[in-house]
This record gives sequence, C-alpha cells and structure tokens, in this order.
Amino acid sequence: MLEQVKETVAFLKNKGFLEAEVGIVLGTGLGKLTEAIEIIETISYKEIPNFPIATVESHAGNLIYGTLGGKRVVAMQGRFHLYEGYSFSEITFPIRVLKLLGVENLLISNAAGAINLDYKKGELMLVEDHINLQGGSPLAEKNIEEFGPRFVDMIEPYSKELNQKIKACAEKLKIKLFEGVYASVVGPQLETRAEYRYLKIIGADAVGMSTVPEVIVANQMNLPCIAVSVLTDECDADNLKPINIPEILELAAKAEPKLVSLFTELIKTI
Ligand code: HPA
Repeated sequence: MLEQVKETVAFLKNKGFLEAEVGIVLGTGLGKLTEAIEIIETISYKEIPNFPIATVESHAGNLIYGTLGGKRVVAMQGRFHLYEGYSFSEITFPIRVLKLLGVENLLISNAAGAINLDYKKGELMLVEDHINLQGGSPLAEKNIEEFGPRFVDMIEPYSKELNQKIKACAEKLKIKLFEGVYASVVGPQLETRAEYRYLKIIGADAVGMSTVPEVIVANQMNLPCIAVSVLTDECDADNLKPINIPEILELAAKAEPKLVSLFTELIKTI
C-alpha cells in the first residue's frame, strides 16, 4: 500500500497539488464549502490512480486544490463509506495520501443523528471523543512502519489545540457549537429504537456512519485532526418518526453556511 500511496501523491503533485497545508473532508450534503475555496485544480476520483473505484450508488467525488482562509487546502468533496462495500483500508486511503502530500491539519465534517436530545437538529457538534462501533479498524492489517506505530494511542484523538481554536472561532462568529461523543456505525440502515437507547447508555451524543476510521488513520500518521457533526435529526427512541432523507439533506444544507464560516475562520488561525 505504501507504494500505491506514493504513486498517488506523485500523480497529484504532478497535477499541481503542491505545499498543501490543510486537508478537509466534506460529509453528506456538505459540499458547499468548495464554493468558498478559490479553486486551482479539481480532479475527479475516477482519474486518480489507486483511489477506490466508485460504486454505482456513491456520489460523484472530486479532490479539490485551492486556497481558503489564506491557506492552501486539499478538500475531498465526497468520502468513501463502509456501507458502500469498501474496506477499511480503502476508505482511509485518501487520508494517507493527504498526509504524504504534506497536509499539517485535517478538518473533517459529517452528518449525524443527535442521541443527546438537548442537542437539536440543524445545530453543529464538535466531536470531542468517539466510540468505534464499526466492528473493525483500518490498522488491523500488516503494519507499514512508514505510516506510524502498530499500537496507536487514542488518548487525544482530536487535537486539543484545534478544538480550542474552533471554539474561539464559534464564539467570535456567534455560532452555537455543542461538544460531544460521536459513535460510528456501519449502516446504511438507520438504528432501531433499542439501538438508540443503547447508544445513549454507552455515552454517545451523536451517531453517524463515517469519520472514525479516518481519525484513527490520522492519529497513526500523527496528523492533528478535528471533526464537526452537522446534526440532521433527533434520535428519540420513545418518539421515533420514520426517516425522512430529503429532510436530512435539507437540514444539512441549512446548517452548512455555519460550517463553512467556522472552518474558514479556523483555517485563518492555523
Ligand atoms: N443514524 C441516525 N441518524 C443519522 C445518521 C445515522 O447514522 N446519520 C445522519 N443522521
């Protein structure tokens, strides 16, 4: 895999992806941030050697290089999920590429359901810790020393420094930013009532189908990261309504400008 990552990095550098400073992963329904980027180059995932082959149902994906908040950024417009049938190594391959491209900080976003019912849909939650319920790890394979240690410490999976900075930005911009624990599940089915109750008992504030594998790899590679969830629905086990995907996407879109301002402001400070 090391050779493949290096080949992909060489391809991107050749396309002008040089001296990248910040990596950004855009979650479901959160593509608008790219409109804030002064784009220098856009490459479809299909054209990038060794990137996972897109399945029929996956969204069109692009890797975008440009400037935002005065920094050179590489943004993933669309990510890979386990529920699409990809392996843990495939969904985290782009994170390894970002690190070897020279990215020094990683900003991740996702859409998530609120388990903590004090947290409301349409609001943002800073992920301060996580629970991996995906039944596996991107590190459970032959270890490649160049990528980092075999046993990765997860004592501080999300950068304290970046978290402090984003909280200050939220205050400055008067954007409400909850803090909490994100639980990752495989999906794509939503949770049962019993599962929502279980998630609450074990200490989750939000649930989603991504992010955690990316954060594990970022930690192995010593890449400081931060994750913000856009809460798109409230998962109240005792008052559960049928899932409404258009409403989830609408809420993500409505909350998106807050995420765009927050990430842009944060990038200015790092
Ligand atoms: N579960 C419940 N609600 C959600 C999820 C999820 O994984 N993602 C977005 N809303």
